Order: sequence, then C-alpha cells, then structure tokens
Amino acid sequence: MKYENIVVRVGRMPLPGALTADAYEYCAEPLEALKPGEIRIETIYASIDAGARGMLDPSANYPMLLRPGNRVYTSGVVGRVIESLDPAFVPGEFVRALSVTRQKYLTVAPKRTLGVRKVDPSDGPLHIHIGSLGMTGFTAWIGTFTIGLPKPGETMLVSAAAGAVGSVAGQIAKAIGARVVGIAGGAEKCSAVVSRFGFDACIDYKSDGLGEAMDAACPVGIDIYFENVGGAIQKLAMERMNMFGRIIMCGQVSQYDGNGGGSEGGPNLMNVINRRLNLRGFISSDHMDAFPAFERSALSLVRSGKLISYATVTKGFDQLHDAVNSLTQGRNFGQQVHQMADDPMTSDC
Ligand SMILES: NC(=O)c1ccc[n+]([C@@H]2O[C@H](COP(=O)([O-])OP(=O)(O)OC[C@H]3O[C@@H](n4cnc5c(N)ncnc54)[C@H](OP(=O)(O)O)[C@@H]3O)[C@@H](O)[C@H]2O)c1
Repeated sequence: MKYENIVVRVGRMPLPGALTADAYEYCAEPLEALKPGEIRIETIYASIDAGARGMLDPSANYPMLLRPGNRVYTSGVVGRVIESLDPAFVPGEFVRALSVTRQKYLTVAPKRTLGVRKVDPSDGPLHIHIGSLGMTGFTAWIGTFTIGLPKPGETMLVSAAAGAVGSVAGQIAKAIGARVVGIAGGAEKCSAVVSRFGFDACIDYKSDGLGEAMDAACPVGIDIYFENVGGAIQKLAMERMNMFGRIIMCGQVSQYDGNGGGSEGGPNLMNVINRRLNLRGFISSDHMDAFPAFERSALSLVRSGKLISYATVTKGFDQLHDAVNSLTQGRNFGQQVHQMADDPMTSDC
C-alpha cells in the first residue's frame, strides 16, 4: 500500500510566551515498506504534555531540548492499524503506542516496543489510553506510590489539579482514603475539580490570599505535596508541610515558556531539614518495568468508575502549536489532546 507520511519537526525556536504556527513544520516524507513484525498506525490522537513547551525552551532546563529540524515527541498516540506484518494485529483495529514521535503514519514493532497494545473502545473515548491509562496516568501513579505513599486520613495537596497528571494523582490518592486538596486557576476550574474529579477542596491560585486559602483548605497541614508547577505555589506549600512530609517533585510548568516565571524566590529549604521532609524528583520513563502493574490497577479503577477522565481536544493536523498553547495557558480541563485525523468512534468525524 502507498502512503505519503507527514512528520512533525521543530520549525523556528520560539520566542518566550505562546507558540506561533512556525514553531513546527509538517514535512512530507516517504515511508519505507514494513518489515516482518511491524505495523503501521494512522495517528488519530496524540497526547500534549507540559514538556512539549519545555523541550523548546533552553532556559527551562527540561530533561530533553529539541532544536530546529528535530522530530517532535509525544508521550503517546492512539490510532488505527492500516497495515500489519504482525499476525496479532489486523488492519482496522485501534492501537496505542507510548513515547513516540508525532507523524501521520507511525511504524512500530509491537513485540519489541513496550506500551503498544490494542485498545478496547468500550473503555471510553480512544484518547483515555494516552491519558489516565497512558504516560500521564502512569506519572501520577509512580509519583504518588513511590514517593508520596499516602495513608488514609493524610492530606495530599496537588498543584495543576485540573490537568492530566494532577487530576489522576488526586483521584488515586483519594481512592486509598487520603484527603485531597487541589490547586487550579479560576473559580470555575476549582469547582469542577471538586465536582467532577471528587477532590475534597480546590484552591484558586489566581485569587488573592493563596497562603490563607491553603491554611483554610489544609487546617492540619500538608502531609504530601504533589508538585507540578513551581514558583510561589511551591514556596507556600513547603511552608505548610507537616513533619515527615513527602514532596513529589513531578514538574515545574510555570517555568517552561521562556518567560522566567516561577523561578523567583525559591522555597526555604531549611524546612526540608527541620521537618524531616522527603523531597524527591522522578522521571516516569525510568520506571517502565512498573507500567504493566499500573495499567492493571488504572484499568480496574476506570472500569469501576473510580478514575474519571476528561480531555480537551484541539483538532487539526497543523494545529500543534495551538494545542500546546491550550495547555500552557490553562485552557485544558483534564488531558490536553491533539486530534490529527478523524475519530470513527465520535459522531462529528
Ligand atoms: N516527572 C515526569 O516524569 C513527568 C511526566 C509527565 C509530566 N510531568 C509534569 O507534570 C506536570 C503536569 O503536566 P501535564 O502534561 O499533566 O499538564 P497539565 O497539568 O494537563 O496542564 C498544565 C496545567 O498547568 C497549569 N499551569 C500552567 N501554567 C501555570 C502557572 N504559571 N502556574 C500554575 N499553574 C499553571 C494550567 O492549569 P491552570 O488553569 O490550573 O493554571 C495547565 O492546565 C508538568 O509539570 C509536567 O512537566 C512530569
């Protein structure tokens, strides 16, 4: 079968702030014939992760920095098999792949690539497999259960609580009996974090008096802080940590867009010593051996209705810049997703 591929590459390195369309280039490239064991997937959805912006900002100190011409990564895609030389996969089936590059037609060898599996559309929207059941859900799970170790009755504070990682972290801690408090931007988002994701409370960081709001929402202090944003929020949270508290250093999204946000006035690290805190960073892809266990646990929570997912979908193959801006500007609720082709499971394709 003959297809022309389109590979997404970095265009112009962006200026600080929102991305413009020229941040990415959409390059027509030939496809090689499949080798035995490989399948070809037409990408329908690709995850947009906060790191997509950090990878384009040399000042963000993000674990990976991309340059003009580089292929652009995503933590996961879901799409439909269009060709297969692996007898276990049949054209027409829906498939998920993790940690791949953004392109119209993706070629993978399922037996040699962790995280490639068929998806069951009855589990929910196709993109759930790159959200709560993909790397973002896994990130929340690894941070919560290897560093946070919440116990019933403990208070866990989660920043970027309305986003992909934060919403899952709060829900899985709540499922084991912790009291979960979120932080998000705006009264409407905060209300949805409580009503849709089931958090016990949510603090609007865009309102005045953030420290007082944390005191009110966490009256007996914070046992676990799931850190996604950095800056002033991190500083105020650290001042309210209880003895032997745990700080899960997951991300610093306020520092990813080249504006130098979030780096001012770091927290007083003396608190780490005085209060015997465990402050630990992690990169979820270092823990892939735990992915199958996560997937079993998360799938069971999804099927029992204890792990709720929402997504904000930006449509249009050449709209990647807008999808990334949606996330950094906080327009997303739940997972930010980029739709690159029609989804036959939805009515509007
Ligand atoms: N360590 C790892 O292995 C790993 C893996 C994946 C992701 N992460 C980290 O996890 C975090 C969440 O990533 P995600 O992909 O799930 O994104 P997300 O939470 O879905 O989206 C980012 C959210 O951050 C909030 N935000 C943006 N700028 C902010 C600012 N200046 N101050 C406070 N909040 C801000 C926005 O919500 P509001 O409307 O509430 O502002 C936005 O919706 C990021 O820090 C990311 O780097 C880490």
